[in-house]
Amino acid sequence: MSEAPAISAAQPGLQRALRVAIIGAGPAGVYAADILTKSSEVKDGDLKVSIDLFDQYPAPYGLIRYGVAPDHPRIKGIVTALHKVLDRGDIRFIGNVTYGRDLTLGDMRGFYDAVIFATGALKDAPLDIPGVDLEGSFGGADFVSWYDGHPDVSREWPLTAREVAVIGNGNVALDVARMLSKHADDLLVTEIPDNVYQALKASPVTDVHVFGRRGPAQVKFTPLELRELSHARDVDIVLYPEDFEFDEASDEAIKTNNQVKTMVNTLANWIAEDQDTGASRRLHLHFLQSPVEIYDSPETPGKVAGIRFERMELDGTGNVHGTGEYEDYSVQAVYRAVGYRGSELAEIQYDARRGVIPNEGGRVLDEDGAPIAGLYTTGWIKRGPVGLIGHTKGDALETIGCLLEDRDTLPPAENPDEHAIIGLLEERGVEYTTWEGWNELDAHERALGEAWTQAAADGGAAAGSGAPVARERVKVVPREDMVRISRKGQNQQ
Ligand SMILES: Cc1cc2nc3c(=O)[nH]c(=O)nc-3n(C[C@H](O)[C@H](O)[C@H](O)COP(=O)(O)OP(=O)(O)OC[C@H]3O[C@@H](n4cnc5c(N)ncnc54)[C@H](O)[C@@H]3O)c2cc1C
Ligand SMILES: NC(=O)c1ccc[n+]([C@@H]2O[C@H](COP(=O)([O-])OP(=O)(O)OC[C@H]3O[C@@H](n4cnc5c(N)ncnc54)[C@H](OP(=O)(O)O)[C@@H]3O)[C@@H](O)[C@H]2O)c1
Repeated sequence: MSEAPAISAAQPGLQRALRVAIIGAGPAGVYAADILTKSSEVKDGDLKVSIDLFDQYPAPYGLIRYGVAPDHPRIKGIVTALHKVLDRGDIRFIGNVTYGRDLTLGDMRGFYDAVIFATGALKDAPLDIPGVDLEGSFGGADFVSWYDGHPDVSREWPLTAREVAVIGNGNVALDVARMLSKHADDLLVTEIPDNVYQALKASPVTDVHVFGRRGPAQVKFTPLELRELSHARDVDIVLYPEDFEFDEASDEAIKTNNQVKTMVNTLANWIAEDQDTGASRRLHLHFLQSPVEIYDSPETPGKVAGIRFERMELDGTGNVHGTGEYEDYSVQAVYRAVGYRGSELAEIQYDARRGVIPNEGGRVLDEDGAPIAGLYTTGWIKRGPVGLIGHTKGDALETIGCLLEDRDTLPPAENPDEHAIIGLLEERGVEYTTWEGWNELDAHERALGEAWTQAAADGGAAAGSGAPVARERVKVVPREDMVRISRKGQNQQ
């Protein structure tokens, strides 16, 4: 271990690097690190910073790796930009380390002058209706984790339903519905793991019904994602004219908001054109239906047999109220895509209603609502689980602004030596991964993809069944494999 002077970053004139820990290597964490290193204070040489970026996964990028749908390679391209940031060498990635299990708040306080929580959201928001615990009722976030090869979820997923309901009218509902209705062979070109391909290939699904509780002008999804539904091969879109109700607020939104106008026009054109091509699968979009109960049947006790909705009516403001009319749909599976929810972190206040860390512009607050010196937050755990990857840049800008404003009053780390944290992880037997390790795993996954590409060029399939296709990458899923491959290639720090 190198000898580091025990000086405070707050002491003017005594220049040691400000030690900053960021917990969470999703986009919010990476942007925060990037913005801090590029701040004028650092660039002018006025401030030195040394940043450690932790993640509970062996790999960086958060929901870009474990949330964004595999058939969205364009979005995954953002990874290229984030890779460049982490490849510069001035931000140290430390993976496979969980705050609250491997490290405590006391540890972080001891080794860092400032800690930024960027832990995002991974879980489903609750939907409190009867029958939600029946077999065949699934959280959308859990399904996303499965198809994106999350290291800690079961490899098995019961895709046995012919008719499926998806609740929610956000982009996650569309991702889930698209992944359920697309033919597996059309996803093989993506990075989906083999177990996901095999399960989707065997799926007997014929009808996927997406239900929004408000009208077509109140959807939360976006035009590109809506239009994408019509690009799926052998999947017809089915709409119901009686769902096309608009109130004053809807008319106003269509007039003033281009996004709403585009989506309502797209839907209206689909109705006018009649999308029935006799496809083997159908994706139904229903509006003004609020879920009331998921039920089983005497033939299948304990298992989803259907779902009941109440027909809703717009109230003039874009909100809805019930009409007292109910409709039942026979389905064998229900996917709840009603939003994500951030998780509570050890030793930090948590707003359970919003699923966020209470904060003021990114400064973490104590139970009395006062900022805690040296603790910050950014991204979805700061603001709630809404918004695109790009929006986390704005969060990070604000949070780093606060940190820089506070720089002279930060409680100094007791041990700012950057090797000390690694010593502690080793002492505790934590199999941390590094940036070199991630590069090794990244290269390994690309090589698995290359094997498919090569086999396709030679006229065969690379592994198991499946058509010969070129693939950029195939994900490694089990955590122990990710760690083993990463640690083989990494220099211990
Ligand atoms: C299913 C889905 C699909 C999406 N698709 C798109 C899309 O196509 N385009 C788009 O622009 N946006 C998309 N988004 C939104 C985008 O993913 C978010 O805006 C963004 O990921 C939020 O960034 P974040 O860094 O705050 O959180 P996250 O991306 O969730 O990153 C948080 C990180 O913190 C880590 N972490 C959590 N707890 C701990 C702990 N205790 N210790 C250590 N590490 C921890 C997690 O492992 C994770 O890596 C999608 C979101 C979802 C849910
Ligand atoms: N391709 C992409 O760009 C992409 C992909 C995935 C996610 N994302 C982003 O990630 C964020 C999260 O997406 P999300 O889909 O999880 O959340 P979201 O956009 O907030 O959508 C949640 C949906 O669930 C509905 N809902 C909530 N509670 C309900 C209930 N009790 N009963 C019935 N419906 C209910 C909401 O309806 P109300 O509107 O009536 O409340 C809304 O339609 C969004 O900003 C999204 O754009 C982007």
